[in-house]
Amino acid sequence: MTSALPLHLVILAAGQGTRMNSVLPKVLHRVGGKPMLGHVLDAGQAVGAAVVHVVHGHGAEAVQSWVKTHYRGDAMPRWIHQAEQLGTGHAVAQAAPDIPDDACLLVAYGDVPLIRPETLQALATAAADGLALVTVRLDDPGGYGRVVRTEDGAIRAIIEDKDASPAQRQITEINTGLIAAPARLFKPWLTRIDNNNRKGEYYLTDVVGFAVADGIPVTAVVATDADEVEGVNDRLQLARAERVYQRRQAVALMRAGVALADPARFDLRGTLSTGRDVEIDIGCVFEGTVTLADGVRIGPYCLLRDVSLGAGAEVAAHSVLEGVTAGAAVHIGPFARLRPGTRLAEGARIGNFVETKKTDVGAGSKINHLSYVGDATLGQGVNIGAGTITCNYDGINKHATTIGDGAFIGSNSSLVAPVSVGEQATIGAGSVITKDAPDGQLTVARGKQISLPGWQRPTKKDR
Ligand code: UD1
Ligand code: MG
Repeated sequence: MTSALPLHLVILAAGQGTRMNSVLPKVLHRVGGKPMLGHVLDAGQAVGAAVVHVVHGHGAEAVQSWVKTHYRGDAMPRWIHQAEQLGTGHAVAQAAPDIPDDACLLVAYGDVPLIRPETLQALATAAADGLALVTVRLDDPGGYGRVVRTEDGAIRAIIEDKDASPAQRQITEINTGLIAAPARLFKPWLTRIDNNNRKGEYYLTDVVGFAVADGIPVTAVVATDADEVEGVNDRLQLARAERVYQRRQAVALMRAGVALADPARFDLRGTLSTGRDVEIDIGCVFEGTVTLADGVRIGPYCLLRDVSLGAGAEVAAHSVLEGVTAGAAVHIGPFARLRPGTRLAEGARIGNFVETKKTDVGAGSKINHLSYVGDATLGQGVNIGAGTITCNYDGINKHATTIGDGAFIGSNSSLVAPVSVGEQATIGAGSVITKDAPDGQLTVARGKQISLPGWQRPTKKDR
């Protein structure tokens, strides 16, 4: 056994992805909210690849610009441009000059997003002294390169589907595309690949035959999970990969103690950290970074993006929360819309058809029905009546509203900012508040109610 060589991961990502029928380069299509290429880059990082090389061609600019905004420093891959896609062998050959002889050269595909770090590690380990590849048995191996073995089971070659004889097409063990060898062996093989085959392409898989001819051991890491090594060529396969990925995440969360009403109706497009006994009903989507403390309950069909909720918080059905930080025991929804900069202190309540934005809501304060509250600071124990609006925007600038502890805002009031309402103040229903309202007093700002004695309804004129 040789000691582990520094790992150089080569990710093939130059293909056009014609079958996606999209302007977006294939490897930028997302699984779990992250481009497929990002998943493969992350797997490479997780196994501690010394250098990652991305072979790109179609949509090079878009691919680079996404990577540059999401990776920094050592995590940044090296870029290898393949102007013309002449085959997988040609693609890897473009990266070869950049790879030292004392490295392990491992090839992965940018359109096989569910590959696990463990599998990359197993492949690198198997390639310590020779060529190793990841294979899998499929019920329907059509279209894939077949793994041809001798009677005693030794790998002899990979034959591409188009070049295979009818007998070889019966083989169910296929090449996943993941392949590795010490670079000192791999690089000379790359120079020997030609394009004398049915597709007129430089097949990377030809290296298997060369290794056999050179007496270099060839081993297979047989994947037990076909989903993991499945390539994505069209939107159906992308949707399948998505479900497999979501299932994986759901299983991990349930193992960690989260009660998912239905793992098949759960979507996480980011990271979700959970305390104990968190309950999530069906149809919820979590994006960005979401943290749910002990005992949080999320009702059906909610969207939470970049949200942190304290212990015992409850979000009722059909609520949308984005950029929200909430303390313990808050209650939100149903049908609430909390926008970025909403901060709720312990025990606050936001009810149905309420929109908040850039607003601090003090402990125990309530906005229970049909309100818009933006650019506002509410003290503790405030009660905002149904239909209250902060008029925070004058058409040019945004202005702030401040409401003191224990204030009571009567229903259907308009608070025209900048304005402040004092502690323990009461605002009469239907008021349009344009000046600061003092502490402890009742402020009413609306037309006085009058009744006209002797007034009579008009009657129909005779014609
Ligand atoms: C390849 C394998 C086949 C395997 C299958 C698994 C070869 C010759 N065949 O076939 O044995 O069963 O994958 O899915 O390797 N790419 C480039 N530059 C190129 C050509 C391809 O970057 O010049 C990229 C593609 O974008 C894609 C990957 O390499 O991500 C595989 O290429 P593709 O043309 O799909 O190979 P297959 O014919 O599917
Ligand atoms: Mg393919």
